[in-house]
Order: sequence, then structure tokens, then C-alpha cells
Amino acid sequence: MAKWLDTAVFYEIYPQSFQDTNADGIGDFQGIIRRLDYIKELGCDAIWINPCFKSPFGDAGYDVADYYTVAPRYGTNEDLKQLFQEAHARDMHVLLDLVPGHTSTEHPWFKESMKVEKNEYTDRYIWTDNIWEAPDDMASLRGISARDGSCALNFFSCQPALNYGFYERTRPWQQAPGDPGPQATLAEMKNIMRFWLGLGCDGFRVDMAHSLVKNDPESKGTIALWQDVRAFLDREFPEAVLVSEWGEPDKSLRGGFHMDFLLHFGPSHYNDLFRCEEPFFSSRGKGDASAFVKKYLENRRKAGEDGMICIPSGNHDMDRLARSLHGDELKIAFAFLLSMPGAPFVYYGDEIGMRYVEGLASVEGGYNRTGSRSPMQWDGTPNAGFSAAAPEQLYIPQDPGADRPTAEEQMSREGSLWREVQKLISVRRKNPALGNKGSIRFVRAEENGYPLAYIRESGEQSILVILNPGREEAELPMEAAGQIRESVYRFGGEVKADRERNRYLVPGQSTGFYLL
Ligand code: GLC
Ligand code: CA
Repeated sequence: MAKWLDTAVFYEIYPQSFQDTNADGIGDFQGIIRRLDYIKELGCDAIWINPCFKSPFGDAGYDVADYYTVAPRYGTNEDLKQLFQEAHARDMHVLLDLVPGHTSTEHPWFKESMKVEKNEYTDRYIWTDNIWEAPDDMASLRGISARDGSCALNFFSCQPALNYGFYERTRPWQQAPGDPGPQATLAEMKNIMRFWLGLGCDGFRVDMAHSLVKNDPESKGTIALWQDVRAFLDREFPEAVLVSEWGEPDKSLRGGFHMDFLLHFGPSHYNDLFRCEEPFFSSRGKGDASAFVKKYLENRRKAGEDGMICIPSGNHDMDRLARSLHGDELKIAFAFLLSMPGAPFVYYGDEIGMRYVEGLASVEGGYNRTGSRSPMQWDGTPNAGFSAAAPEQLYIPQDPGADRPTAEEQMSREGSLWREVQKLISVRRKNPALGNKGSIRFVRAEENGYPLAYIRESGEQSILVILNPGREEAELPMEAAGQIRESVYRFGGEVKADRERNRYLVPGQSTGFYLL
């Protein structure tokens, strides 16, 4: 198993918005290469790049038209190979984004599958056997082909579902996962993985990993499919890492994924912490972390100590963290994100509190997500250093605010969010108890209660993490928390021990990591 994952801290790069080097207003691979040192300096040593393959960009590249060739706007396959090499030279690792559930309607496979004559791609997608029948529970494309049938969609209308079969079959056109069509789709996906792993990528973040086998109420078929993929990787690329967009770690980790994301959808209560009317990390102090913790512990129990659950700072699908949290709230949220088990993921720009850009028109299928995808703000030069193109040529407009945060300004200022994130990552790296694999035990996660406190443990080391994002002083019973010694990290005021009443008094808007 890839050892590096045990200590990895990830940075998510939305490639079109990171760094443009040829003044066309769109980020590119050479731009990512140029900024690898920046990512390393922050403390991250692994990156996930959103899909960068040929695509008509009806859904920002999640509508792939050729899995074996990168989108020309980002460079060439050679550039991407160079990016892998440059990353490895810095002891960094790169995950690509694999989109196995669907392609673009522009993919040549789809065009072939629309034909009346039987061919190699007839069963590559899910088709009913006549135009008057639509697949149950799935949207479909109808009346666009000479072929008589409706084709199931996996997401947007430009994203027809690839055929991995049906776990439960009630209609004659539904194939079994073991049938030749679904097996050929799976074999092709393995070829694609083989191709990129062969060029030097270290693994994949897998898009909608839960979605492959249809009519699969308990996900048994989909889990079995991923187990098959893992067995193939174990034979040919045992070091390859798989991270899933699934949101149900008990299932994905059983399927052989190393790690699963908790996201803004699904049953995780992730939103309670950061993105709801009263987020737990708001200084108003009206939030509630208890449902999140309950669900998190349930997941951990099912996933086993070794299965990693990832709580990202955000991603290209959800509102920027800085839309609901501000100032010191962001620092305390990062203290949480960077002291939890599982590999942390920092969404580009979150380390400087990049804002959600309000009021943007949808770009490339972004809709409300567009505001979280605006180009990175590097410095005080035109286009914040993102691109030498004319500002109106940037493929998504930038935050127009005169006070928009930039990496350069924050890197040079003591007490900035960037410096705090950098410090937190380095504290995490120095203390094994805070690492990706250490254990966790919550000592305080009351309903509507502050602070949140938990103990992280690894080998000999035990660290108590106390987080009080609310403005009010809060108390923590001493007995449960244990005797604190020195702190390895502190932000805000200092915790006071009130021995008479057996409690710690935790100042408002503070956090600390204490050796026990
Ligand atoms: C995932 C991606 C999202 C995309 C969708 C369809 O949720 O993160 O950006 O639109 O899948 O591929
Ligand atoms: Ca460019």
C-alpha cells in the first residue's frame, strides 16, 4: 500500500483556474508546475487535479470525450507527464480525476452506440430496447438517435451513463454486471487507469464512484466492481491510490478505496459544521456539531480504524468556506480540518480565504458552483497574477473586491490565514497523534454545545484538541479531558484550569492542541 498516503496533506487544483502561462485566460499544466513550490511551502505534498481530458466542457471536464488525451487548453500529455515528474522530484504525489460513470455525448463511443447497426459500443451505455420505454428512476436521452431506445443519463443531459450492468434486473434490456457489455466497459476503465498510472500518476479521485452498477440498493454490485478494480491494481500497480466521491465510507472502503470524502450531500452532516444557517464554526456560537460527530463515529466503526475518512475544506461543487465563515472563524475551522484523522484536502484558495464570487453567470456547467471556481489570487498584479490575458478574457471573472485576499500578501503577514494553515500543517506533521491514521475519541460533542473536544492518539502520544469557535467562554469538564500539559498549537486566548470546580475555562474564539 502507498505509504505516502499515511502522511499526505492534499491540495485540490481546479486546473482551469489555477495559473495561466500562455495568456489565454485559462490555467494550464505549466502553470501548475510553476506553483508546485508554493503548494509545498504551504505544507501540502499531494495534489488532486480535476478532470483535464479532452472534453466539450459541458460540465467543466466531467464530460470526457477522450480518456487518453488531455484537453489541449491545458497542454499535452507530455506536459502532464512532466508535471508528474516535477511533483515526484519534490516528494509530492498526484491524483487525477477519473470519471467512470459517464462520458460526454461527444465521445466517439457514444456516437457509435447511437447507431442502428450493432457494433463494439452498442452495449457501452445503458439503452432501453425501444424509444417508448424510459429507464425507471433515471433521466434519459430520447429521440436523438437512429437507434430505437432511450439512453440513461448519469448526471447532466450531456452525460450518458456507461453500462456496468444492473444488480437487480426486471427488464430484458438490463444486463448483468458479468455480461459482455458491462465487462467490456470495465475492462476499458482499467485500461485507462493503466495508461495514466504508466505515465506516472499516483492514483485517482473517482467521480461518483457509487453510481456504477444500477438498481443496486445496498451497493453490493458497485462494491464488488471496485473490489475487482482494486484486485487488478494490486496485481499491476499496488501503489496506486483510490479516493472516492461516495460519501458512505462504510461502503466505499469495503470496495477497496483508501479514503472517502464526506461532502455537502449525503448523510454526513458535514454542512452542519461549515455551510448552513448556523454553522458550528461561526462565532455566533449557535451551531451544533453533535449530529456530525455521531454519524462520523458510526462511519468509523463500520469502516475500521484503517479506512480513512476525509473532511475537505471545500471543493469545486460547494460554496467557498469563506462564504459562511470569516476572519478567525476560518482559522478555527482549519484547526479542526487539520487535526482530524484521514488525509486533509485544502481546496485551492481556501488557504487565503478566497471568497465566493457572487452573481456570476454560469460557466461551463458550473451554475451556482461557478462562484467557487474563480481564478486563484496570487498577488497584486493585474488579474491577481493568474494570467497575462486581458481581464475580460479570463474564462471566469475574478473576485472584483479591492480587498480580495492574495497569496503573496498573506504569506508575508504574520497572523494571516495562510500562515495559520501553514503552521497547522507543520504541527500535524510533527505530531504523530494528529496524523492521518491516529485514533480519535471525542470528549465533548454535546448537542448545541461548545467547545468541541477530542483526543487524538498514536503510539505514546496523546493530544487533546479543544475548539471553541463561539464568542462566549465555554467550559470543558476536566475529568473527561484529562490533565493537560504543554500546548503544541494555540490560537486565541489561553485555557484556564479551574480545579475547584473540576473544569477548564475555554476562551471564546480559541483553539488549542495539548499534550496529555
Ligand atoms: C461530481 C463532480 C461534479 C460533477 C459531477 C458529474 O459530483 O464533483 O463536479 O458535475 O460529479 O460528473
Ligand atoms: Ca493557459
